[in-house]
Amino acid sequence: MTRWYRYWARARPASLLPPVPRETREPRAQILTIANQKGGVGKTTTAVNLAGTLATLGLRILLVDLDPQANATSGVGARVQPGQASVYDVLVCDASAKEVIEPTSVPDLFVLPATLDLAGAEIELVSAFSREQKLRRALQPLSADFDLILIDCPPSLGLLTVNALSAGDGVIVPVQCEYYALEGLHTLQHNTDLIRDHLNPGLQITGYVMTMMDGRTRLSQQVVDEVIGHFGEQVFRTRIPRSVRLAEAPSYGLPISAFDPACRGAMAYRRLAGELLARVGLTERSPQGVPA
Ligand SMILES: Nc1ncnc2c1ncn2[C@@H]1O[C@H](COP(=O)(O)OP(=O)(O)OP(=O)(O)O)[C@@H](O)[C@H]1O
Ligand SMILES: [Mg+2]
Repeated sequence: MTRWYRYWARARPASLLPPVPRETREPRAQILTIANQKGGVGKTTTAVNLAGTLATLGLRILLVDLDPQANATSGVGARVQPGQASVYDVLVCDASAKEVIEPTSVPDLFVLPATLDLAGAEIELVSAFSREQKLRRALQPLSADFDLILIDCPPSLGLLTVNALSAGDGVIVPVQCEYYALEGLHTLQHNTDLIRDHLNPGLQITGYVMTMMDGRTRLSQQVVDEVIGHFGEQVFRTRIPRSVRLAEAPSYGLPISAFDPACRGAMAYRRLAGELLARVGLTERSPQGVPA
């Protein structure tokens, strides 16, 4: 807050205070949607591990699990008890997201958890007013509480993914280093264009992340080259290697940054987090929240 505003404000009752000057307003969380309608390409692994890594860099992170499989929820060690509200209640019953979010064992990392109930939301929302914007509106009150909100999508382009794309500032697309990697990416790009044209004019593709790279095979490198051929600079330079530790971490309910911070997978997600922050114009902070 600027010095003149503090001085001016001290002398006056709150009701007469002018609006807080623009540069001193609470910053708004950026929302990044992790999407690819192809199954098993590393969406959840990327969501959980980016979220965990960014939290250890001192950013306040909310991970939104928008997949009825609820793998992101269990991946950060959260569990919804019977009768406890989840993201389903936020979307379908207008529950307050603030009351549904859960802390995790990683400081500064919170989750908006999912359960299998969410599978019903696609159908139950069909007749709802402004059904594509439910998540966007639900996340608005949380905006000042977080630096980044990451949304893990299901493997489809249904209403849940449409909600996630309508809420997002950017899309991160994990692409598995295997044959047919490009399959569906043009459809995803087309849907992103449609959502930008009709629902969310600010939506950008933040980047494509090559996942499960196996440096020993020519195939992995060929796929990377092919994806770069199509999407050029939009492809993150960091490749996520195939790593047993990354596959093991979810069964301990921990992001890789907490499970095995020195392993190759953790270091790759650390580099990816650095690239991502540069792309979205954020910087690391020390754990006290002071810019590093
Ligand atoms: N870099 C990696 N190294 C090793 N295993 C990985 C890696 N990334 C993901 N996996 C494993 O591959 C499987 C699919 O990954 P993940 O669940 O992240 O994909 P997804 O795109 O979220 O899948 P879905 O579309 O079903 O939601 C999981 O068993 C995960 O542990
Ligand atoms: Mg998943």
